[in-house]
Amino acid sequence: MQEVLKIEGKHLLKGSVKISGSKNATVALIPAAILASGPVTIWGVPHISDVGHLGELLEALNVHLTQVGDDQLIIDPTNIKNIALDHPAVTKLRASYYFMGALLGRFKSVSMKMPGGCYLGPRPIDLHLKGFEALGAKVEFKQGAYHITADQLIGAKIYLDIASVGATINIMMAAIHALGRTTIENAAKEPEIIDVANMLNKMGAQVRGAGTNVITIDGVNNLHGCIHEIIPDRIEAGTFIIMAAAAAEEVIVENIIPQHLESLLSKLQEMGVNMKVGPDHVIIRKSENLKPVDIQTLSYPGYATDLQQPMTPLLTQAKGKSIIKETIYVERFKHCQELQRMGADINLIPATAFINGPSALFGDKVTATDLRCGAALVIAGLIAEGVTEIHDVYHIDRGYDNIDQKLKNLGANIWRETIE
Ligand code: EPU
Repeated sequence: MQEVLKIEGKHLLKGSVKISGSKNATVALIPAAILASGPVTIWGVPHISDVGHLGELLEALNVHLTQVGDDQLIIDPTNIKNIALDHPAVTKLRASYYFMGALLGRFKSVSMKMPGGCYLGPRPIDLHLKGFEALGAKVEFKQGAYHITADQLIGAKIYLDIASVGATINIMMAAIHALGRTTIENAAKEPEIIDVANMLNKMGAQVRGAGTNVITIDGVNNLHGCIHEIIPDRIEAGTFIIMAAAAAEEVIVENIIPQHLESLLSKLQEMGVNMKVGPDHVIIRKSENLKPVDIQTLSYPGYATDLQQPMTPLLTQAKGKSIIKETIYVERFKHCQELQRMGADINLIPATAFINGPSALFGDKVTATDLRCGAALVIAGLIAEGVTEIHDVYHIDRGYDNIDQKLKNLGANIWRETIE
């Protein structure tokens, strides 16, 4: 028995949709909260299964969790115990690796299994580990688990060979109580990093420069609780904006920070998408005669790799040849095979997809091989003639808050079924 998502295409979307709190910020903010000596209240927590899995890990660590209302979480780490994290939830998501930095920062020691998450090709964590080592920690990998310990964490200058989001945040957390100053050079600049730094600073940390490529962390002795509201999810926002460009009569995507979406919005403008950008929303109207574009994924503020897959079905509707070059995860093209099954004309060479449009898409049985592949298939399903049946929906539920309900509210014909 498994749950599938079914979409009958060709229903024009109309209305407004409110974007939830950022998944990739949330999955770092929750582990960051354990660095406090008292309760941390987080507002705007999205309803996604990654949050549930992080909650299981918090409970394993004896951290007290209280859900307040619809989207508030109070995380009280007062009685936290530094237990080895061999819980099955560790392998359910990639972001469980943030417990490495957070536990190391708080206890100077952490043991945990290999993190899991979407398969997008190899996803090493060598830069995280090198960062911990630079702070004075010893890293061992024994019997499928990392054991990281330090007598004393001492501030250091750390240059990241790649501007990694995860390594930047993990080192920031590990260095929070280190002796003296840590400097992360070639740090990643994603908005989620600023959000985590802002929360840590509200807790009493001394983090400067988040959002630039040099971040300094001056170690402090103690962090206290705080209240923090998560930034809107720029990837969920981008996904709904692309959906609207593909299938809207008129859709307002609300609760967004347009500056976080500039690379996407400029590509959509180039394609001729009919849209109007407001201070915290975008209005997208029915768009015709879409033009092809070339996209290269880059770290922020370049075009986000997480929006490359959702963009592909829209490009199948543009007249001419579009090119997507993936530079962050060169194997992130599993969605193309599924889209081909639905009628897309896509040629793949390593790290690059050539999309020839326009192609009529037809509903079929397809599989969400990873989270953003799932989002791409939902968009394709909205465009397609007939019914699209998406398998392995759990990937979508890891990162999209109530996607089917939000789409139903916009007039989509989308439902779940349990099948043999
Ligand atoms: N990399 C290394 N070594 C490391 C770390 C990263 O070689 O130690 C490489 C990666 O293999 C990749 C590049 O550096 O080629 C960038 O990876 P990064 O560390 O930035 O990725 P991440 O932190 O693991 C986060 C998001 C991803 C998003 C990338 C974009 C979270 C939990 N995940 O991953 O989100 O694609 O940044 O850089 O924040 C998603 O939401 O669907 C998703 C996969």
